[in-house]
Amino acid sequence: MSQYQIAVIVGSLRRDSINRKLANALIKLGPADFSFKLLEIGDLPLYNQDDDNNQAQSVVRLKSEVSAAAGLIFVTPEYNRSIPGVLKNALDNASRPYGTSAWTGKPAGILGASIGQIGTALAQQHLRNALSYLDVPTMGQPEVFIQVKEGFFDAAGDISTPDTVKFLQGWMDRYVQWVKRHAQ
Ligand code: FNR
Repeated sequence: MSQYQIAVIVGSLRRDSINRKLANALIKLGPADFSFKLLEIGDLPLYNQDDDNNQAQSVVRLKSEVSAAAGLIFVTPEYNRSIPGVLKNALDNASRPYGTSAWTGKPAGILGASIGQIGTALAQQHLRNALSYLDVPTMGQPEVFIQVKEGFFDAAGDISTPDTVKFLQGWMDRYVQWVKRHAQ
């Protein structure tokens, strides 16, 4: 078993999500002592504080997967200049009941892909705001704002441009150090 298990949370439920493709391409760049699991967030109930003491099985599962992880990677689209509701819902569900948040202290990295020119910059900034409150140390650099155009992914779902792969490899190398530093 890998020494460092990383929970990957994709902020899109779309079948052909470019952010899920980006997440899958990214995790191929991880080192041998890291393993990555894309977490399911599409089956979570809409967060309702009335359910805090009787959380759905899907919420219990998410909290346990996050708790078991040595680190987090968020790969998210931007919806209307913020994060998608499904992602905020996941953050809220796994943060409660008060005092039992699963997110606390987990080192995180953030990436995003968009068809728009600012490549999820505003969504990522909003995400950083919530993660800061949740006491999630979030890697500041390098930032990854990817604009996906036709041909960005090849038929196998890999990234076609070697320069982009190299840039993402640099991101992964920094992220690995970020996780290891927080594990000490
Ligand atoms: C978008 N999109 C979008 N893009 C962007 O750069 N900034 C934005 O604010 C928005 N807003 C937005 C709202 C909604 C409801 C949708 C459905 C889409 C476009 C978005 O970048 C594009 O649909 C991506 O393909 C979404 O990512 P996934 O689902 O492919 O990972």
